[in-house]
Amino acid sequence: MSQTSQKISIFGLGYVGSVTAACLASRGHDITGIDVQADKVAKINAGQAPIGEPGLDELIDQQVKGGHIRATIDPDAAATTDISLICVGTPSTASGELDLTFVNSVCQQIAAMLENSGKKHAVVFRSTMLPGSVRRLTQQHFAPFIDSGKLSIYFLPEFLRQGSAIADFQDPSLSAIGVFDPAQEQIVREPVTHILDDGIAIVELEAAELLKYSCNAFHAAKVSFANEIGRIAKGFDTDGAKVMELLCSDTRLNISSYYMRPGNPYGGSCLPKDVSALSHFARSLNVAAPTLDSLLPSNQSHLEHLIKLVEQTGQKSITLIGIAFKNNTDDLRGSALVKLAHALLLKDYQVTIYDPLVSPDSLVGMNKRYASAKLPGLESLLKTDLSDAIPAQGTLVISKPCATLDELRPLLNEQHHLIDVNGWRELQTLPAHYHGLCW
Ligand SMILES: NC(=O)c1ccc[n+]([C@@H]2O[C@H](COP(=O)([O-])OP(=O)(O)OC[C@H]3O[C@@H](n4cnc5c(N)ncnc54)[C@H](O)[C@@H]3O)[C@@H](O)[C@H]2O)c1
Repeated sequence: MSQTSQKISIFGLGYVGSVTAACLASRGHDITGIDVQADKVAKINAGQAPIGEPGLDELIDQQVKGGHIRATIDPDAAATTDISLICVGTPSTASGELDLTFVNSVCQQIAAMLENSGKKHAVVFRSTMLPGSVRRLTQQHFAPFIDSGKLSIYFLPEFLRQGSAIADFQDPSLSAIGVFDPAQEQIVREPVTHILDDGIAIVELEAAELLKYSCNAFHAAKVSFANEIGRIAKGFDTDGAKVMELLCSDTRLNISSYYMRPGNPYGGSCLPKDVSALSHFARSLNVAAPTLDSLLPSNQSHLEHLIKLVEQTGQKSITLIGIAFKNNTDDLRGSALVKLAHALLLKDYQVTIYDPLVSPDSLVGMNKRYASAKLPGLESLLKTDLSDAIPAQGTLVISKPCATLDELRPLLNEQHHLIDVNGWRELQTLPAHYHGLCW
């Protein structure tokens, strides 16, 4: 991180704003804190933390005495600074909707301040807001300043946790900044660069906004999952904490990025059956497990999303490249692609399948029974030659790389649509219309 001192105003001196003020001041920046609550402002000016957070009193006292932080209720004080950080609350309305009243009023104050100022300025939103909020607020309040090149806008989500906020701020577990257009943006442009962490990820505004919510939703999902496993364990007198401790000790499949990439719905012979059995078991113990109960419906929703994407391409001939439930297997049991083929056939689509690992002659046992029950005409749909599987016009649903780009390229043209199910981004180089499943 660059050490150049910046003049920074911080709107909102609550948990995020006061920690940010103290930490940025301790890095040598000159901080003007602005809050509508005069008592918070007075506390800071008296060298006290306006909220309870370990270590914050000492840090604020030090920085106020050193002349690096002053607080005020006057929003125009931001005029003397180069950057405004917006850290005001974004509560929920009574109906659960996001309430942007405080952010809106700060934007109005900053816009009024900019009207009367000749200086360049950067506005950095830190308040947690839903995707699209920053772009909308910018259009609503700041369009003329953006057009004249006087203002730049960023969204810098905050990931600190109350109770360890100072340590989290100084050594964040994740840093990303949202900009209008990551391809164009020279983010690393004065003055914002001086408050950014080294190696910060630069993404588009909406991705940064969603990232913050995704992290919190993920944390909530983890807590709910652990609590449900705990309740189930308690239901038959075993130690749920031990089960979760062991689960977490697997850092290859469990606590890792494995299974954390959007892609095809899960399938196979284990996940759907075992999720179903565990939900059922919880019910038999009279244990509520709504998170577990939601896993199969969530998977079904993802399959429906894939079906809709296929339909939206407007083609009647559909080729599935890959039909097994994952790469390097011929197992069709629980495969989302088998379900997709079945759903499309019911809707009168012409379906062909190319998957060199799957041949009706070699399918045995449960795998064969599953295939015959779910896709009775599998033999006639499967093509051994890629060129027989791909018609002159149609949609390809590519779930695994069982044909190479070089094999696909000569068979495709602008009459073809490609649906990339698992993030094989090089497919975009092929001469066809590319559609990502979740990107
Ligand atoms: N608390 C956390 O741990 C945490 C962590 C990460 C992100 N966030 C997000 O950061 C944002 C702020 O959270 P917080 O916990 O610090 O909120 P908070 O309620 O503690 O503080 C918000 C402050 O904004 C002030 N304010 C309201 N309108 C204002 C205005 N027009 N001008 C100046 N100040 C104004 C309020 O008086 C208050 O002091 C929220 O969007 C929150 O979701 C919070």
